[in-house]
Amino acid sequence: MLSQDQINDFQRDGYLVIPQFASPEEIAALRSQADNLLTCFDPSILNSVFSTTDQKKTSDTYFLDSASSIGYFWEEKARDPHGNLLKPKEKSINKIGHALHDLDPVYRSFSRSTKFHSLLRSLGFSRPLPVQSMLIFKQPDIGGEVVPHQDATFLTTEPLSVVGLWLALEDANTENSCLWTLPGSHVTMPTSRRMVRRNKDNANGTITPNNQNQNENVSIEFIGEAIQGYTIDDFVPVQVPAGSLVLLHGQNLHMSKANTSPHSRYAYTMHVVEGGKGCRWLEDNWLQRRGDFPFEPIYDDDIDET
Ligand code: FE2
Repeated sequence: MLSQDQINDFQRDGYLVIPQFASPEEIAALRSQADNLLTCFDPSILNSVFSTTDQKKTSDTYFLDSASSIGYFWEEKARDPHGNLLKPKEKSINKIGHALHDLDPVYRSFSRSTKFHSLLRSLGFSRPLPVQSMLIFKQPDIGGEVVPHQDATFLTTEPLSVVGLWLALEDANTENSCLWTLPGSHVTMPTSRRMVRRNKDNANGTITPNNQNQNENVSIEFIGEAIQGYTIDDFVPVQVPAGSLVLLHGQNLHMSKANTSPHSRYAYTMHVVEGGKGCRWLEDNWLQRRGDFPFEPIYDDDIDET
């Protein structure tokens, strides 16, 4: 449970560091499973996705399908112009997502632990609903930058409710590319830009139904204005040891720089929205689950306290 002081800090800054959220044993298990996932995947499948003649269409579909699966995504600098890997496959993956919290037994168990549930309830969630999860590796030497963004651009409810839960699986510092956030931006810079899905067959962009089988006809586009009125100098680094959890308000502006150090920076992130109180997941969010694979609340017995 968060203290009132912690809740006040989160409401003021739009982010909050919770030290020692995960135990060393939990971190070791999560880290080990992350390495298993990297070791076990078949890069030839991924190469076929990202090396076809119609690469954008195929990779867009792979990305959209990852809402209901465990997908792998290359680091941009991991391959040469012909698609050949320049490093071992385990050092070439940027991220894995987006349904680890449902489909991977180790991450499912951790993501649905009492500590997450209590934390989210103390933040005011009635029915915390995880919608996506990612393992982000920030690989040594080639870990790509993540430009300033707000998570509500990608995961929208009405009213807005998304919160990011960012867990350091390794020590994160300015050398290996920790998170940087802009304190107070969740108040001063309301999200005006959204990434949405559109049906390619309709010039007016009919919203695609909540059905993964439709992903082949879907394109992704941004609508609205990008946030302006800040400089990179406004951001502060969030340097934390492994096991720390960083809570991020959905409108908090955050980023991370490229990792040019010889050290990786593993992190596990999960995004949660309100699944009760009449809160509505928007049909044009990029992330839509297959009809037979709906979102599950953290606890089955959570009731909607509308
Ligand atoms: Fe983010």
